[in-house]
Amino acid sequence: TRCLEPIKFTCYFGTFIQTPSLGALQVLTHCAVGVDQDGTIVFVKENCADYTSYTLKFTGLELHEVRFVDVADSETKFFVPGFIDTHIHAPQFPNNGIFGDSTLLDWLEKYTFPLESSFRDLTRANSIYSQVIERTLSNGTTAAAYYATIHADATNLLADLALMRGQRALIGKVCMNQNSPDHYIETFEESKASQLDVIEHIEKRDPSGNFVQPILTPRFAPSCTEKLMKWLGELRKSHNYHCQTHLSENKREIEVASEMFPGFDSYTDIYYKSGLLGPKTILAHCIHLSEHEKDLLALTGCGVSHCPTSNSSITSGEARVRWLLNSNVKVGLGTDCSGGFTPSILQVAKHALLVSNHLVMKSENNFEKLSTHDVLYLATVGGAEVLNLDVKLGLFEVGYKFDAQLIQLDCEGSPVDTFEFQNPKWGLLSHDESRGKFLDLIDKWIFNGDDRNVRKVFVNGRCVVDK
Ligand code: GUN
Ligand code: FE
Repeated sequence: TRCLEPIKFTCYFGTFIQTPSLGALQVLTHCAVGVDQDGTIVFVKENCADYTSYTLKFTGLELHEVRFVDVADSETKFFVPGFIDTHIHAPQFPNNGIFGDSTLLDWLEKYTFPLESSFRDLTRANSIYSQVIERTLSNGTTAAAYYATIHADATNLLADLALMRGQRALIGKVCMNQNSPDHYIETFEESKASQLDVIEHIEKRDPSGNFVQPILTPRFAPSCTEKLMKWLGELRKSHNYHCQTHLSENKREIEVASEMFPGFDSYTDIYYKSGLLGPKTILAHCIHLSEHEKDLLALTGCGVSHCPTSNSSITSGEARVRWLLNSNVKVGLGTDCSGGFTPSILQVAKHALLVSNHLVMKSENNFEKLSTHDVLYLATVGGAEVLNLDVKLGLFEVGYKFDAQLIQLDCEGSPVDTFEFQNPKWGLLSHDESRGKFLDLIDKWIFNGDDRNVRKVFVNGRCVVDK
């Protein structure tokens, strides 16, 4: 597979932006970033006009052995770390934007299960999954935690397509053996066999695990027996596998879970006692948690996928992101297609900001407010913490993988108005003034930008999208 092959040493030169900590935006200008044959960053050198000599001296390579990518020609062009989608249902893509006035449980019955059930057809799976990977990459998503369906063959195909296209992916075969329609359900034995089939397939395709890895995926407690969840819990613990599920999304769902599992202290406790919680577990939504449940997530080191687009669309509620972060619960962003309607983490980031404003309006407490810098952090560094892969992602720092997007704000057809910023005096501004102007530009990008502004996408130092 192409993405597993070594690449030429590359020096990228230009402006780099990143969020080294929550709320902090760092701008690196005239910066040279050296990326080795394994896609790992080996130097980050600011104000390095003579990046050619620097690179040759640093590496000891000859000129013809190095590739140079120089994009330092404009204030409206910069590199950002690749976006990380911590929760996306690949088979639900055809339903993006279609949810009517439904809420979670009737939405699943009416829209979701019939669509997922159709993925028994591999030709259909191939066509839709190829488009999902194309579309998410084109929006700057360099790594994603996918839910597939209950079907092992189609799930294996999703892993193959991600690997071929060069997107990092956690691939989850959905496990569900109760409380589901006859046309879309498996027995405990079928679920086990399919899960083991998928693990074997993926580990054979990418033994390094740097690009694709399996992730155990009990859909949510209401559609899994305790026996199935406990089997997955044992498998998780014995092999240190990733795990993902839904938690506390909708009030009626919480009632159903507690009626079905009466012996447990809370919804979270069902997963805890089944052995599903750990530092490589991703829990989507986590909207209506108690203090105690939130503390249990912190204790076990789980990550939360915040999906504000989905939560607003199917009227689930507003997750208290700041409350989670302040208790050291890791938080990233998820599109949750097609509970959410957009495959773009940039759109989800601005929805996260708007939903945090709604929490502020309801409580008249400013505490929950998220800034543009906060949501950019969640989309990159936060997502990397939640995925918790063996490779380091989310920043331009030595030892991190070069997963990046090249953003251009004044490209042909750009939805971002930049005329105020094409001022020839820009170069004459003081350092503070020009930083202020640049920060305004970043805010414009977050609110008005879209996939048209994503000009190139790199995963592991390889260019996977070039528009
Ligand atoms: N809970 C159980 N299944 C699903 C799903 O497919 N999407 C969302 N948003 N919530 C779920
Ligand atoms: Fe979901």
